[in-house]
Amino acid sequence: MKNVRQFWKLGRPELNTQWFDVSRDGHLIVKEGNYQYNVFELVKKYGSPLEIVFPHILEQKVEDLFTVFQNTMRRRKYRGRFSYHYPMKVNQNKEFVIPLLSEGANLEVASHNELWLLKKLWGQNHFNARIRVICNGPKVAKYIDLITELRNLGVYITPIIEDLGEIPMLKSFKGDVGIRANINIKVRSHWDKKFDQFGTSPEEILELGRIRNLKILHYHLGSQIEQGSDLVRAAKKLMELYIQLRKTNPSLDTLDLGGGFAVPYGSRRLYSVESVANGIVGTIGKMAARAGVPPPHLIVEWGRYAVAPAQISIFRIIHAKPVSNGSRKLWYIIDGSFMNDLLDTWAIHQKWHVAPVNHMDAKKLVPVWLTGSSCDSDDKYTASGTYIRLPRLEELEDGEQQYIAIFDTGAYQDALASHHCLLSSPAKIIVQDGDITLARRRETPEEVGKLFGW
Ligand SMILES: Cc1ncc(COP(=O)(O)O)c(C=O)c1O
Repeated sequence: MKNVRQFWKLGRPELNTQWFDVSRDGHLIVKEGNYQYNVFELVKKYGSPLEIVFPHILEQKVEDLFTVFQNTMRRRKYRGRFSYHYPMKVNQNKEFVIPLLSEGANLEVASHNELWLLKKLWGQNHFNARIRVICNGPKVAKYIDLITELRNLGVYITPIIEDLGEIPMLKSFKGDVGIRANINIKVRSHWDKKFDQFGTSPEEILELGRIRNLKILHYHLGSQIEQGSDLVRAAKKLMELYIQLRKTNPSLDTLDLGGGFAVPYGSRRLYSVESVANGIVGTIGKMAARAGVPPPHLIVEWGRYAVAPAQISIFRIIHAKPVSNGSRKLWYIIDGSFMNDLLDTWAIHQKWHVAPVNHMDAKKLVPVWLTGSSCDSDDKYTASGTYIRLPRLEELEDGEQQYIAIFDTGAYQDALASHHCLLSSPAKIIVQDGDITLARRRETPEEVGKLFGW
């Protein structure tokens, strides 16, 4: 059984699979402390496609983040404060946002509508007054109005100037503001584009002179940054601008380092939170001391880091057929869609960690490519042109089904989801403290039709 767990890369903290294991019957199980859930039993009960959310994983990720940064700051005698702002765009589901807030996360929002959700929480008295909100995204008038309204209600809310055209629009805003820099630095990531449309160049920011109530200097380089040293290098570059900017803006006291911490997606060990925290806190601390400025408070907005591992997606294999005549490789057709429900498979060729939910101990495996149920020839997962190995369907007993789990699906996929071929979105269940809650039913034809005016 030990080899089965190793084979499917479970139980490995460096791959974010420390919560997953194999039962004696060859089923995928998920551990929460000393309690465990059998994923095969869950999918038999709730059907497929199914998304399973584990709030305890979210909570653990945020707790680790606080512990590591706070310990590093203490050890290095860094006198600034650390805070975590969860970027809501990464997953706006209530079942994700509430556990994060309860672990002490603040929020970063990117639009009027995300901020409106916060207003709703505030109105229902769910919101702790000490919570802080950072507002990114283009500031249209209704967005600024809502920012002002929430500030007047007592929320500590900071709009970030993304574009110089926003400065006149924020003229009558009485609270603190931030500004987003577009720093010129190359990092290894899908999103390291030659032209980045976000933020303002350091030169233009410095030319502004004094910016009223400037509190936060912010940047966000990109997502899934492959080298930890790049996160540190970018923080150093931002700190250089901070030191310059403080000469004309003494109210500036916080660096918001944005998102970008990568998820291993089951394939290989990346860098650790410890190494990045040590690099950032050490570098910025030394630069502050050398320049004779107080060390800035530090904010990170690592979204994917916290939420990707907290959800798995389960599909049933409907049937199999050869990839082409004579090929040993098979297409396994799933009862869901990559294009609809795991859209990054198509958009950015996302690599996923895939494992069977049952028959994990199968003696015979076949090399497969996966294909979704829509009519689109791009609706497939070929593991970047390689293949994955899954149990042979011939081994199944009469009436038995083969299910697969795709790990780390908690980040970005829900808000990007679509309805190609009018396939229904998966059901979503929340699993915590031994309780299972149905958060979203699988869509009915009526519900899907309604979205298109039927
Ligand atoms: C401003 C900002 N902060 C944070 C994030 C989250 O990035 P990640 O999920 O890579 O940590 C994003 C993602 O696009 C972003 O635009």
